[in-house]
Amino acid sequence: MQAAIRLRDVHKHYGRRDVLAGVSLDVPRGGRLGLIGPAASGKSVICKLVCGLEQPDRGEIETLGESVVGKREVQLGALRRRIGMLFQNYALFDFLSVEENVAFPLVQRGGMTPEAIAERVATRLRAVGLAGSEHKLTGELSGGMRKRVGIARATVADAELVIYDEPTAGLDPVTTQKIYDLLAADQQRTGATVLAVSSDVVALAKFVDEIAFLYHGHILYRGPAATIGDAPDPLVRQFVRGELEGPLRMEEQRA
Ligand SMILES: Nc1ncnc2c1ncn2[C@@H]1O[C@H](COP(=O)(O)OP(=O)(O)OP(=O)(O)O)[C@@H](O)[C@H]1O
Ligand SMILES: [Mg+2]
Repeated sequence: MQAAIRLRDVHKHYGRRDVLAGVSLDVPRGGRLGLIGPAASGKSVICKLVCGLEQPDRGEIETLGESVVGKREVQLGALRRRIGMLFQNYALFDFLSVEENVAFPLVQRGGMTPEAIAERVATRLRAVGLAGSEHKLTGELSGGMRKRVGIARATVADAELVIYDEPTAGLDPVTTQKIYDLLAADQQRTGATVLAVSSDVVALAKFVDEIAFLYHGHILYRGPAATIGDAPDPLVRQFVRGELEGPLRMEEQRA
């Protein structure tokens, strides 16, 4: 079966730093892959490459069966409408209300009446615990509330592919679990392919089928999420368990 995400030998550098040095990665249609790795290892860069928001130096990237490499912005619009993306830094429109932010993907896609959009948005906002905040400007919200607006926006259009970059960073443990339950229920309902980046490996592992570990420009390991804490690679185990002693070299120490 065709992969929803397919990266082959992808390279990306910024300045003198080779952030990605030959990344190959597949996510099957309907699959849920978690991506973990040290800070600044390039997880968010991978998310952006998959949506065509950044271009690789070399390598192949196919998203939902379409190559994104070398495409211009106008050519990528149709593909992006098939993707729901939660950015790590929110990327909300601060001058729009909560409701308008969440409605945005539906308005862009077209084909729905304003009433139907309003109803869908209200349902999503209830699901993320933001009923009553519809008319606030997102610039006025707390970090956790902004995160939940981003989740509502990423899931509102039932995209074929959803990318969650740190969906629960900054949220309390109970809200974190609620959000993952919501994401899991959504995925089961829509059958969407999921790529999820999170530093909360325990919560992530309950949500995804498999986890890939990005380390020094490469996917060093990929295996079942349920047993990630007992991965055969000692580096992966050390990272997941948060142990200080071991073979792991964090990115910052390399600079
Ligand atoms: N647009 C850019 N311009 C310059 N450098 C960039 C750009 N985007 C990313 N980088 C650099 O690439 C590296 C990887 O960044 P990225 O945001 O992907 O890390 P990450 O793995 O998501 O980290 P974190 O866990 O902190 O979110 C960092 O050193 C970052 O500074
Ligand atoms: Mg990141």
